[in-house]
Amino acid sequence: TDYWVVVPAAGVGKRMGADRPKQYLPLLGRPLLSLTLQNILSWPGLAGIVVALSAEDAFFSHLKEANHPKVHRVVGGDERADSVLAALEFLSARESGNTPVLVHDAARPCVALGDITALLDREVSATALLARPAGDTVKQGCDTGGATFVERTLDRTQIWLAQTPQRAPLELLRNCISQALNQGAAITDEASALEFFGHSPQLIEGQSDNIKVTHPSDIVVAEAILRLRYA
Ligand code: CTP
Ligand code: MG
Repeated sequence: TDYWVVVPAAGVGKRMGADRPKQYLPLLGRPLLSLTLQNILSWPGLAGIVVALSAEDAFFSHLKEANHPKVHRVVGGDERADSVLAALEFLSARESGNTPVLVHDAARPCVALGDITALLDREVSATALLARPAGDTVKQGCDTGGATFVERTLDRTQIWLAQTPQRAPLELLRNCISQALNQGAAITDEASALEFFGHSPQLIEGQSDNIKVTHPSDIVVAEAILRLRYA
């Protein structure tokens, strides 16, 4: 089945602290978002990509992929979920409600094709996400008088760290995100919007090198991962 990919790329990259949004920082000499789009354009069965951009974006139109026939753009919103919703509304106007959609962060250029194949496998649930089992021991903290103390240690074997892509049928995802936002729910990924309405997306173990470029040192790590893969 053909599927669409939504790429939220409307963030400011506050934690990166660079002179421009992190999706436009150079990685191996090319803008990060350009590498992410090039990666997605190589996935078999791709119908198209919808990129959500900031209304003030001054960089996207200079990317090599900006004029690719499969690449569409929409204006994003204040939070990541608003940006994803804008892209889903664009798709709703032209695709059927059960079209599979994969939402993938602009800031994850390193996701490997094997992970995409695993997520799209016919045995996998229609709602699913790539995730990593927690590697570190996980503490739940409690703030007391300006300091934080351990409340308890969670059972690490049941803790997963969400990555992207995350997949769901178009209308289900659009409805869940839109209604969760209306109800003021904290929606930090697509799965959390589905969970808010009682769905239980399937966890698919992804590779540890599908990092989200967030802090300055992540640029160096992502370059090393990509150099290793494409060398
Ligand atoms: N994103 C978006 N719209 C927003 C906020 C984030 O499309 N209003 C996108 C980012 O561009 C990124 C992805 O969502 O590709 C994951 O978000 P994150 O890593 O938090 O990026 P930023 O929000 O840009 O970074 P920061 O939180 O450090 O400001
Ligand atoms: Mg953010």
